[in-house]
Amino acid sequence: MNRKQFISSLGALGVTAITTPTMGFAQQNESTSIPTKNSKIRVGVIGCGSVSGMYLPHLTKSPFAEVVSVCDIIPERAQQAAQKYNIKNWYPHIDEMLAGVPIDLFVNLTDMQEHGRLNRLALNAKVNVWSEKPMANTYAEGRELYELAQTKGVRFWGAPAVVNSPQFAFMAKQINEQNLGRIAAAHAHYGHQGPNWSAFFFEEGGGSLPDLGVYNISTLTGLFGPAKSIVAMTNIVDPTRNTGNKGHIQVVAEDNAMIIMEHQNNVLSHIQCGFNYFDPYGHEGTGQERPTISVVGSTGNMHMIGYDWKPFGIDMATMKDEKTKRYSTDQGSFVWEEGASVICECLATGKEPLINAEHALHVLEIIEATRLSQAEGKRINLKSSFKWPVIS
Ligand SMILES: NC(=O)c1ccc[n+]([C@@H]2O[C@H](COP(=O)([O-])OP(=O)(O)OC[C@H]3O[C@@H](n4cnc5c(N)ncnc54)[C@H](O)[C@@H]3O)[C@@H](O)[C@H]2O)c1
Repeated sequence: MNRKQFISSLGALGVTAITTPTMGFAQQNESTSIPTKNSKIRVGVIGCGSVSGMYLPHLTKSPFAEVVSVCDIIPERAQQAAQKYNIKNWYPHIDEMLAGVPIDLFVNLTDMQEHGRLNRLALNAKVNVWSEKPMANTYAEGRELYELAQTKGVRFWGAPAVVNSPQFAFMAKQINEQNLGRIAAAHAHYGHQGPNWSAFFFEEGGGSLPDLGVYNISTLTGLFGPAKSIVAMTNIVDPTRNTGNKGHIQVVAEDNAMIIMEHQNNVLSHIQCGFNYFDPYGHEGTGQERPTISVVGSTGNMHMIGYDWKPFGIDMATMKDEKTKRYSTDQGSFVWEEGASVICECLATGKEPLINAEHALHVLEIIEATRLSQAEGKRINLKSSFKWPVIS
C-alpha cells in the first residue's frame, strides 16, 4: 500500500469536533505547562508526514486546540503543512520549535525510532506530550519519561485511542456486567501489506508490533486487564522491501507476530499482526462482515466487526438470547486520529481521559516481552500494570 492510497483510503473518515466548549478561554498556568480550565491548548505538531494528514484536519477543527506550530526535519513538509492548515509558525528542527512560539502540547508524529528522544526534549522543556505509538523505544525509557513528566509538572500520553470507541465501551460493559459468564478466551488480528513510503517501519525499532499489533494489544488488555505473562513468536516473512525514502532495504524488524497473553481470572487472549496480510475489503475493512476481535465466555460470545481503530458494530449471542444480533453500530464522533484532540479537550476542561499512560506503557512492555519471548523461546512475566476496568 502506498502513502497516497493509504491516506485516500482514510480520507473518507469524517472529522468531527468532539464537543462544544461551554465557556471562554482562560490564561495558561504560569508555573507549568498544565493549562487552567477552559483555556485553548496551544499545540505544536512535530512530524509532517503521512499521519499528520489525518491529525492536522482533526486538531485544527477542535474547539479546544490551536495548532500554533509545525516542525519537520524535511523543512518543506513543515512549510507546506503550515500553509495548508493556516498555521503561523513552522520549524526545521525540534530545538527551534521548543525555543519558538510557546506550546502547551507537543504532538509527536515522527518516525517510531525518534519518539523517545524527542518526547524527552519536550518533557524537559515542561511541555505536555501526546506521542504516536510507541511512547518510547523501550519500556524502561517509557517509564523514565513518565516519571520525568511528573517531576516537570506535565502529562505524557501515547496512542492509540481505541478505548474511546463506542464499540470498545459496549464490549467492556458486557464483560464488566458478566453478561458472557466467565470469559475464557479472546482473539484479535490486524494486518495489511505494509507501508511503502518510509523505511523506518522495517528498521530496528520498527515492526508490525508497534505499528499494528499495538491496537489489538491495547484493546485486549483494555477489555481483560493487564497481562501477567505472555508467550510469543515473531519472524520476517518478506526479507526486503521497496520504500519511498530509502529504496530497497533489508527488513530488520519483525513483519509477522503472534502473542498469547495470560490475564487475570484465567482469561487467555491471542493476537496476530503483520505486514503481509491481504484484506479484500481494503485497509479500512469497509463492508467487512467478519470480526477482527472475538471474545468467548461460558454463557455468551461477542465479536467486533471491523478493526478496533474503525469498528462498525458488535455481534453478540448469549444463553438468554441465542440468536446473534448486531449492537453498537454507531461510531459517534470516534475516529482513530482523535487522540491529541481529546487530550486538548481534557487539558482544557480538567476532564481525565480514558486513554491512560500506564496502559500505553504496559502495551510497550508487552511488545518488548514479545521480542524477548521469540529470542529466548520462553514465557515472559510482566511487571507493569494499569488502572482497570477501562470504563468511562
Ligand atoms: N501513516 C499512518 O496512517 C499512521 C497511522 C497511525 C499511526 N501512525 C504512526 O505515526 C508515526 C509517523 O508515521 P507516518 O506514517 O506519518 O510516517 P512518515 O514517514 O510519513 O512521517 C514521519 C515524519 O516525521 C519526520 N521526522 C522524522 N524524524 C524527525 C525529527 N527528529 N524531527 C522532526 N521531524 C522528524 C519525517 O521527516 C517525516 O516527515 C509512526 O509512529 C506511525 O506508527 C501512522
